[in-house]
Amino acid sequence: MIEARSISKFFSVVNEKGLAEGLTAVLNVSLTIPDGKIVSLLGPSGCGKSTFLEILAGLQAPTDGTIHIDGKLVLEPLPATRKEQIAYRRRYRFISPLANGVFRDQPKHDIAMIFQDYAVFPWMTALQNVVFALKLRNADPRSTGKTGVVKLKKGVIEEKALFYLHQVDLAPSAHKYPSQLSGGMRQRLALARALSVEPKIILMDEPFAAVDALTREKLQDELLRLLNETGGAGTPITVILVTHDTQEAVYLSDEVIVFSPGPGTIRNRIPVTVKRPRARTDPELVEIQERILAMFQYDINQEADYSI
Ligand SMILES: Nc1ncnc2c1ncn2[C@@H]1O[C@H](COP(=O)(O)OP(=O)(O)O)[C@@H](O)[C@H]1O
Ligand SMILES: [Mg+2]
Repeated sequence: MIEARSISKFFSVVNEKGLAEGLTAVLNVSLTIPDGKIVSLLGPSGCGKSTFLEILAGLQAPTDGTIHIDGKLVLEPLPATRKEQIAYRRRYRFISPLANGVFRDQPKHDIAMIFQDYAVFPWMTALQNVVFALKLRNADPRSTGKTGVVKLKKGVIEEKALFYLHQVDLAPSAHKYPSQLSGGMRQRLALARALSVEPKIILMDEPFAAVDALTREKLQDELLRLLNETGGAGTPITVILVTHDTQEAVYLSDEVIVFSPGPGTIRNRIPVTVKRPRARTDPELVEIQERILAMFQYDINQEADYSI
């Protein structure tokens, strides 16, 4: 279970007059996400979705609030008062402040993240990309029997990498470089790499935004199929998907969390209980989409559109 408690994130930015100014990216977001659910964070661009997702992943420290995954703290908030700063420095005096990631006590491989761009290393072939992820997982000092993660033997790594490439229909392109793959294939590779470490949670930041509409629909269905197949055996994977595409959010999710236009706060939480497999034209899905679009329209016009 993922629990976010009153997460806020403030940035200081330089305005056009050259003065420092505070910017609130995320404001007081509290959220509980049960295991095995697909949850979308939906909102207009700039509303703090990526920032919130990176805080969930432990890639950024929140200014305030805490994230717990299965009861374990992901990353503590940044020190706000002088007293906190002193305590913080003392506690982490041997660690570079840049290595914020090591502060969390959550094993890395429990979470996999897929980004919109630069999702894969361009200097590695498809196979090398997946092998790299598995090697990283092996190198994690916490990947001992204790955390339930078994170290993989050398020969097994490549076999496993090929298995996951096969899962996303990329086995024939195993020795190609990302530049030789189409956008859709690259995102499938990112998906294979994320799944290969057998994470409990996959965080996706607009994973399908850069591909054309037809490919996007195919990738969405592929994601659902893979989650079904890989999650079917063991514990189901929890997916948190950031998107600005209302249709995508409603079609894929068990729950859509609608963010308000910046600063990011939760505007509404909409459960989608339509049974899977779903039809994109399912009237219930369409109705939810329209409700969300009307909400966004209201945010823009500050008045309700009664024609919908
Ligand atoms: N490192 C940063 N420094 C200053 N401002 C930032 C930084 N990262 C994001 N922001 C600002 O925070 C807001 C939210 O950004 P982001 O989380 O990327 O939004 P979204 O993913 O919803 O488009 C934006 O106004 C953005 O300019
Ligand atoms: Mg973003």
